[in-house]
Amino acid sequence: MKKIFSTISLILIVMLGYSQSIQSLSKEFTLQTELNSTGSLLYSLSYKNQNLVTKGRTGFVLSNNENFNSNFSIVKWDTLTHRSSWQPVWGEVKEIKNQYRELAITLQQKSTNRILLIRFRLFDDGLGFRYEFPQQSNLQHFVVKDELTSFPLSGNHKAFWIPGDYDTNEYIYSTTLLSEIDENNRSKQADEISTRVAIPNAVQTPLQLKSKEELYINIHEAALVNYPAMNLEVNKQTFELKAHLVPDAIGNKAYLQTPYNTPWRTILASDDARELIASKTILNLNEPSTLENTSWIKPQKYVGIWWEMHVGTGTWHYSDQTNLQLDKTDWKSIKPNGRHAANTQNTKRYIDFAAQHGFDGVLVEGWNVGWEDWFGQWKENVFDFITPYPDFDVKALQEYAKSKNVKLIMHHETSGSVTNYERRMDEAYQFMKQNGYDAVKTGYVGKIIPRGEHHDGQWMVNHYNRVAQKTADYQIMLDAHEPVRPTGLHRTYPNWLACEAARGNEFNAWSIGNPPEHETILPFTRLIGGPMDYTPGIFEIKMDYYVSQRPFNNQSPNGFQVHTTLAKQLALYVTLYSPLQMAADIPDAYKKRLDAFQFIKDVAVDWDDTRVIEAEPGDYLTIARKAKGKDNWFIGAITDEYKRTSAIKLDFLDKGKTYVATLYQDAETADWKNNPMAYKIEKFIVNSSTILKVNLANGGGVAVSIMPASTNDLKQVKKYKK
Ligand code: NOJ
Ligand code: CA
Repeated sequence: MKKIFSTISLILIVMLGYSQSIQSLSKEFTLQTELNSTGSLLYSLSYKNQNLVTKGRTGFVLSNNENFNSNFSIVKWDTLTHRSSWQPVWGEVKEIKNQYRELAITLQQKSTNRILLIRFRLFDDGLGFRYEFPQQSNLQHFVVKDELTSFPLSGNHKAFWIPGDYDTNEYIYSTTLLSEIDENNRSKQADEISTRVAIPNAVQTPLQLKSKEELYINIHEAALVNYPAMNLEVNKQTFELKAHLVPDAIGNKAYLQTPYNTPWRTILASDDARELIASKTILNLNEPSTLENTSWIKPQKYVGIWWEMHVGTGTWHYSDQTNLQLDKTDWKSIKPNGRHAANTQNTKRYIDFAAQHGFDGVLVEGWNVGWEDWFGQWKENVFDFITPYPDFDVKALQEYAKSKNVKLIMHHETSGSVTNYERRMDEAYQFMKQNGYDAVKTGYVGKIIPRGEHHDGQWMVNHYNRVAQKTADYQIMLDAHEPVRPTGLHRTYPNWLACEAARGNEFNAWSIGNPPEHETILPFTRLIGGPMDYTPGIFEIKMDYYVSQRPFNNQSPNGFQVHTTLAKQLALYVTLYSPLQMAADIPDAYKKRLDAFQFIKDVAVDWDDTRVIEAEPGDYLTIARKAKGKDNWFIGAITDEYKRTSAIKLDFLDKGKTYVATLYQDAETADWKNNPMAYKIEKFIVNSSTILKVNLANGGGVAVSIMPASTNDLKQVKKYKK
């Protein structure tokens, strides 16, 4: 019977000229595949009858430079239609629809008899495809020397890009045509990134493109497991992008064993930029979580002993002595420098502040020994993650935090010494649990040990995923800084609340910083893969404010500043999605402006619904979100360096209900450069027919909270009219 079927398939293949096509359920996308005369499988994708990708290549070069991309015949193909929905543990919406058409093509290489399956899933907003290497006697252990996947685009699109790199994604975005992508043409930035290993004429994903026909196209990957990250080499004449995997020390890309499935390569597209941001395709391509109990996972807001080190008024290190040895130093006998921020008393102050203002967590960086020698030394044995500095009383702070109903957040900076972290992490997580910590922020500053490995290579990808699994085993929530950029794995590991993996707000403290357009690009690029711990909420915008408070290093004014207005810092809590949000500034900065701080206190971090109201990468973004299980809505609207007005229809509110809207806006005279801290706050009664007209300053923003009106509000607050 089987034989008859495959014979029929074979006849069909011959009849159809070795080509198959499927349409998305929306009918907007068409995927076409063909086996060409050399036996290579090519794929083409169109959207509303416009070509997105034409004859993209597939396949690999394996172990001994063996080609695994041609000389194939088609064994069979299968199609199916899938429709389901699922509820994330936390997220931007309560329920996620997962529907697609699937085409799975099984290929056999004639010369080797090896089997390769390519699975395509065509969603209503784009395509995902991956390679599957089934278990087989002719292919057991193998090395990926190169992945040949390519994306031949239909023209010289505009690209929002950061340079290809093996170790860092903390770049400013450049916006140029594909033909102009060039290492030397990237946005100017300080050379503060010490680890970069740039790839010529290549860019990183998520890559956002816009065609002359105004199609928005996004290329990325989903479910990066046991494989290196994909950069894209750009052919500036043909506009074909080719996968460039991050290698190991000897240039190999991945060591695999059958059965194995690669990550999904994704192409999202729409003529409406808002749809790209709302896409759930990358999440849908990830495996569901297997955790039975997720009640310990809590989206949350936190404050921390953090910004004071970045602005230079405190230090991570305890002593000014260097060349200390982790296991041989008697830390109690070391002379303190008097500026160590993570001391018991200061931590208590932060706990008090968190408790008073309703924050869940307090991050403390610099609590553990080793910071004297952590930076830029490529040193193996820097931290043990369990020994506090003499002025940090773990037990007393555990009790104090508990009495205030606040959780301390652990910090594990590995300084890139990952072998060290791997051998110590079980003990470190046990130490956390014993001392009342249930969330950890990890960090990977510096070059990776083992030497020759890169932040974005297979070895490190496995490390990050192992940390996600191990922290889940210990019921610990995770926030990773300097990891590979996310690919939707937070569906599989819902305890992995956030990553940094892009240029965060911290750069504004000590470098030329992030230009005003930066946060309008991030949602189309980095955040396509998952939530970001951007650390918004800086109120004291100009860093020269701190010069007089840095007596120890006499830093002269340097003009560094956050490149937004204060109101825009508030709006970022809505526009930059994360279930983990920091109120990143120093408590004093908030105490001086409690009225504006109220928005950070009120804003939710977990959502039933999200509406992208207007969006244009590099220019502006307005998003409204409904708090989980509540009738409260929050709006964030941001702009780039140009001011703008926006008319926000509140038609998402329940009809017939009245609400109080609090608008946190730029003052008339505000401007990110000259007057960034001028804001005004107004309250109005609104309903679902209200259209809020708001003005955003150059580099500005608006944040709005909308909550059901009480009878008192109805008496006291004026109706919105404009
Ligand atoms: C870089 C991280 O992004 C930052 O948040 C942290 O404070 C420093 N590394 C030190 O670990
Ligand atoms: Ca960082």
